[in-house]
Amino acid sequence: MELDRGRFLADLHRLRGFGAAGVGKGVVRPAYSAADIAARQWLAGRMREAGLEARFDPVGNLFGLAAGRSLLLGSHSDSQPQGGWLDGALGVVAALEVARAVQAAGGPAVSVVSFQDEEGRFGVTTGSSVWSGDLALGEADVLVDQGGVSFAQARGLMADLAGEPVDPGRFSGYIEMHIEQGPVLDGAGEQIGVVSDIVGIRDMQITFHGQQNHAGTTPMHLRRDAFQGLAAFNAEINARLASVVTDRSVWTIGHVAVSPNASSIVPGRVEFSMQWRDGDVDRLAQMEAIIRTTAQEIASLRGLRLEFGALLGLEPVVMDGALRAGLEATAGAVAPGRWRVMPSGALHDATNVARLMPVAMLFVPSINGISHAFEEDTHEGDLVVGLEVLARAVSEVR
Ligand code: GLV
Ligand code: MN
Ligand code: MN
Repeated sequence: MELDRGRFLADLHRLRGFGAAGVGKGVVRPAYSAADIAARQWLAGRMREAGLEARFDPVGNLFGLAAGRSLLLGSHSDSQPQGGWLDGALGVVAALEVARAVQAAGGPAVSVVSFQDEEGRFGVTTGSSVWSGDLALGEADVLVDQGGVSFAQARGLMADLAGEPVDPGRFSGYIEMHIEQGPVLDGAGEQIGVVSDIVGIRDMQITFHGQQNHAGTTPMHLRRDAFQGLAAFNAEINARLASVVTDRSVWTIGHVAVSPNASSIVPGRVEFSMQWRDGDVDRLAQMEAIIRTTAQEIASLRGLRLEFGALLGLEPVVMDGALRAGLEATAGAVAPGRWRVMPSGALHDATNVARLMPVAMLFVPSINGISHAFEEDTHEGDLVVGLEVLARAVSEVR
């Protein structure tokens, strides 16, 4: 099979042009934004040029379908509100290059996918959750983003492109190539990670309701300041979680909305995201109990009313043994002594696809371990090594 490395890199840079922003190679291409839809239309054209049937499903997942039964490769092409050029895009463009190369070589059949809203503008890996049946379309449609736009409204922007749902039964398995998004491979000077398992995640909105009041006249002891509630919660939660977590457990308060967000008003309401991840479901539940109890204690101490939003999540998933063995064999051949087996601390569409078929993943290094930031990058030589491992694995597992 003849890979065209120049064409692969040129396509990656072309995709970066949709929503290019910030310093370096940053992109702003959230799901269903104008840049995201334009990028998907461009990708659909590249799929057609590669001899694949380009099809958008009802939520905007884009498939490039080979005839008959095929192996599915891909990832996602939406980005975080501030993201890099490779998160998701790499897996889609590498899949496209492998699909072109196998066509020229006369097989095996490879299809390509770019899932929609992997980055969770609306939920957690929304497009592949719906496709896999983990999330009913009716439940997805009522999810709202931070700006109050519903999933139904957003996917309506792609309604004129939407075709029939794609039958998962046509695929024999799924392989997703991705950047590591962490420091392990880069720190060790290695080129390939073969993924053993993907962590589970829980995500919940928490709101403290206090009393909005005048910041000059309200004595400190009479205040019911919602932001002070969040500050106390944040100060407390690390110490409390320490009793159950390991060094692989993580938790993040990444989005905060202070209301009304004015210097001379004691905040009456603070809504924030609480997200936690771990490879063990029992530990995820223990962390949830600590988070809920801590928030309740702080609310009652400070005279705040507490509200928990819906708990969203995905379970930890183990990669398929046979597909993983194929990746290990090719990693050993392409990058001898410079690869390892490792878990994924980031979420991926592969988690959802694992409900439908065998899945496996491979990583390439992230420079300085940075991702979900404009600075995200990987040496082009490492991108090409990853492409080669993926392509050889496709022949290996056929
Ligand atoms: C997906 O990018 C994640 O949050 O891990
Ligand atoms: Mn990703
Ligand atoms: Mn991401």
